[in-house]
Amino acid sequence: MSIRIGDAKETFVRHFGGAPELVVRAPGRVNIIGEHTDYNHGFVLPMAIEHETVIVARRRADMRLHAFAANLERRAEADLERRVRNVDEPWLDYVVGVANEVAKLALPLVGADLLIVGDVPIGCGLSSSASLEMAALAMFEALGGFQVEGAEAPRLGQRVENEFLGLSTGIMDQFISRMGRRGHALFLDCRSFAYELVPVAFASATFVIANTGVARGLTSSKYNERVAQCREAVEGMGKALGKAGTHLRDFDMDDLLECKTTLSDTAFRRARHIISENARTQTARMAMRAGDADTLGDLMNASDESLRVDYEVTCPELDAMTSIARGLSGCRGARMTGAGFGGCTINLVATDAVSAFCEELLSNYKRQTGLTGATFVSSPADGAGRIE
Ligand code: GLA
Repeated sequence: MSIRIGDAKETFVRHFGGAPELVVRAPGRVNIIGEHTDYNHGFVLPMAIEHETVIVARRRADMRLHAFAANLERRAEADLERRVRNVDEPWLDYVVGVANEVAKLALPLVGADLLIVGDVPIGCGLSSSASLEMAALAMFEALGGFQVEGAEAPRLGQRVENEFLGLSTGIMDQFISRMGRRGHALFLDCRSFAYELVPVAFASATFVIANTGVARGLTSSKYNERVAQCREAVEGMGKALGKAGTHLRDFDMDDLLECKTTLSDTAFRRARHIISENARTQTARMAMRAGDADTLGDLMNASDESLRVDYEVTCPELDAMTSIARGLSGCRGARMTGAGFGGCTINLVATDAVSAFCEELLSNYKRQTGLTGATFVSSPADGAGRIE
């Protein structure tokens, strides 16, 4: 963690006068494999990272939020009785959205003075927004004296995205931000919410995250378009096969091949990505358990190819970053991570080659695209919680 809690508390005092009452945090995440599968009721394998969002807070006697976003140097207020979006200060929507869900569950909602500070790069596919939502939930829990149990906490965050913000995102980001565990990735069944912690413990391989420097955020329209295309595939296959199914999880590759001529080419390719990605993610979990970096690397490469060709969520900069990476010594596998359309890649690299890999990746990327990327290594971190 690079956020200095002492500094954050001092900033709180400067802005609000008087001492804060508590400090909470929630991490960003990187997805190792299982991309765009969550809203199809499939499997994902992310890990929480050391970059995180921290909230320093104190309860208020009224039902208001007085917030300061230290990274943006912006102040904003909200009325917790009304809980509406703020077009001028959209960063506060994540906190107000969480408050809205807390109120809908009839849990004790408390007003607060809060300072938000984070080091999760924004709009880069590392879930800065989910980390803010899960930090906000931890704050409301601590102030209100309640706890949302198990998968209900990330589901609450997902409803903020789906209902308050209008993004059809799945459960992965909030789930890992809340449930992550130090030293582990998390294999999640996005239908049952059953999960398993998988140690990240390769003898001689390390995950390297690389940022293309192209921050396109969630590009909500393209994301929602993919969700709709998957739905189209489900409906088409259900009809053609006479098989009941609500999500792509309910169909296998044989089902899909039988429908090749009835589905549109786009729906067919979207479904082929999801069905094959679910299989890869389950194999990846076994490979990680076995410490088999070569197999995991191959699966990551195959995932990326499928996301590029079938799901079409990469972009020239992501493709440049992954193809350069694959040509470098020690690279076992490389893929885009997160929603796509920009943001980051994740690479599995021989540990003793990491520093040369990072240097060459960035210089070749700069030469090829003119852009300045960034690389970093993060140990798998703990999920959201109270620090003080
Ligand atoms: C975003 C969404 C997630 C997931 C990924 C793609 O991060 O928030 O729910 O769909 O994209 O895997």
